[in-house]
Amino acid sequence: MDLAAYAYPLVRAAHVLVMGYWLGSELVINALTHYIARSRSLPAAERMRLWDFLLDVDQHVRNALILSVPLGFTLASFLGLVPLGAVGLAALWAGSALWFWFMWLVHWRRKAPEGRILAAWDWRLRYLLIALAAGSALWSLATGWPLPATWLALKVLLFAGVMVCGIAVRHYIREAYRGPLPAIAEDRATDADEALFRRLMVKATWALVVLWVLLFTIGALGALKPHFG
Ligand code: HEM
Repeated sequence: MDLAAYAYPLVRAAHVLVMGYWLGSELVINALTHYIARSRSLPAAERMRLWDFLLDVDQHVRNALILSVPLGFTLASFLGLVPLGAVGLAALWAGSALWFWFMWLVHWRRKAPEGRILAAWDWRLRYLLIALAAGSALWSLATGWPLPATWLALKVLLFAGVMVCGIAVRHYIREAYRGPLPAIAEDRATDADEALFRRLMVKATWALVVLWVLLFTIGALGALKPHFG
């Protein structure tokens, strides 16, 4: 039995599965976000327990985002669409595993003294990865290297866009922490606090809608592999 023959279809199946895992988790998180924002009758401690649970569920989205990268580039490498040999692919998986570990460390240590510093470094890492993805995609669209297939370069460019949307969602969550959330947690929130909290979650939802449109477009580019020009 030639196991290598099963590798590609299994990786592709995992790649598509991750898309479903991502979108499904996002929908649950968004529904729960609005439930928490509307549930003023819940005791403050219960609302904050739900908020903490929401952040735990949000880890599934982050799992999917990171997993998309090595799975996608493994497919691209199999198809000869990226100049990554076995060593390069192994390095990409190792880098993704490191990113995955750091993403979980930031989550696990978010309430620890070093939580804020770790979160700041997580933001900086996102900016670096956005620049790397957008830069290599735009350079590929201009020169044909390192991603000669236009549809794949566009996928990577839109993936940078997805990470920008993720930053926008985080921005509104950070504004909630800087604004109404402490008052809600201490059960002293005013009508203005509650209204601001709902407004921030609505803005975060619009950033998510853009993210979902990008994800569907990325998926369609991968499925259709259109030829441009
Ligand atoms: C930047 C990272 C990504 C890379 C390098 C990448 C690469 C690829 C490649 C090379 C294929 C073609 C596989 C084939 O047809 O045999 C593909 C297909 C696909 N990709 Fe990605 N991808 C990435 C991110 C994503 C993301 C974020 C999603 C959605 C969440 C996604 C969804 C899909 C889907 C749905 C297919 C079609 C699979 C099929 O036809 O069976 N990809 N991707």
